[in-house]
Amino acid sequence: MAFISTKNTIRLIKDYDLEQMKEIWNQHHQFLTSTGRIHTTKSIIKWYENRHNDFHEYYGYFIDSVLKGFIIVRNPKNSLWIKMLAVELGFQFQGVGRALLDFVIQKNEKNQTYTECLIGNIKGLNFLITYGFKIIKFDSEYNEYTLKHE
Ligand SMILES: CC(C)(COP(=O)(O)OP(=O)(O)OC[C@H]1O[C@@H](n2cnc3c(N)ncnc32)[C@H](O)[C@@H]1OP(=O)(O)O)[C@@H](O)C(=O)NCCC(=O)NCCS
Repeated sequence: MAFISTKNTIRLIKDYDLEQMKEIWNQHHQFLTSTGRIHTTKSIIKWYENRHNDFHEYYGYFIDSVLKGFIIVRNPKNSLWIKMLAVELGFQFQGVGRALLDFVIQKNEKNQTYTECLIGNIKGLNFLITYGFKIIKFDSEYNEYTLKHE
C-alpha cells in the first residue's frame, strides 16, 4: 500500500524560489501594489535584491517544497509592517494566509503590527478583519487603508 504524506514548511524565500513567487504575485498583482505592477523574472529578482537591503524579510509557505504563498514584512525598530501577503489561487481558504500571519506575528516580539490594504480589495480587507486587524487610517493619495493588529 502506498503511503502519501505532505510536508508543510514556512521558511525564508531564497533566490531560487523567485520564479514561483513571480507566478503567485502575478495572479494577484492588482492587490499587491498601488500601481498593479506585473513582474517578469528579471524584475522580481531586482525588486527582491533592493528590498533585502532595506530590512525586508520574505517568507514562503511550502507544501512538499512547492511555494503556495508568501509574506513580506518590514521590520523596523518599533513595529512590524506586513507589506505583502498572497496565496496561490486554488490554495486559498485552506489556512495558508493565516499560517503565514501567525508565523511572523509570533516570531516578532513587538506588540504593534500594521499592514495596508487597497480600498478596492474587499476580500483582502475582510480576511484581515477576520484575522483581527482594525482600520486605523485611510490614505486618499494611495487609496489604501492602514490597519493595526492588537
Ligand atoms: C487574502 C488571502 C491572503 C487569504 O489567504 P487564505 O489562505 O485564503 O486565507 P486562510 O485560509 O488562511 O483564511 C484565514 C481566515 O480568514 C478567513 N477568510 C479568508 N478569506 C476571506 C475573505 N475573503 N473574507 C472573509 N474571511 C476570509 C477564513 O475563513 C479563515 O477564517 P478562520 O480561520 O476563522 O476559519 C488570499 O486570499 C490572497 O492571496 N488574496 C489575494 C492577495 C491579497 O489580497 N493580498 C493582500 C490582502 S491581505
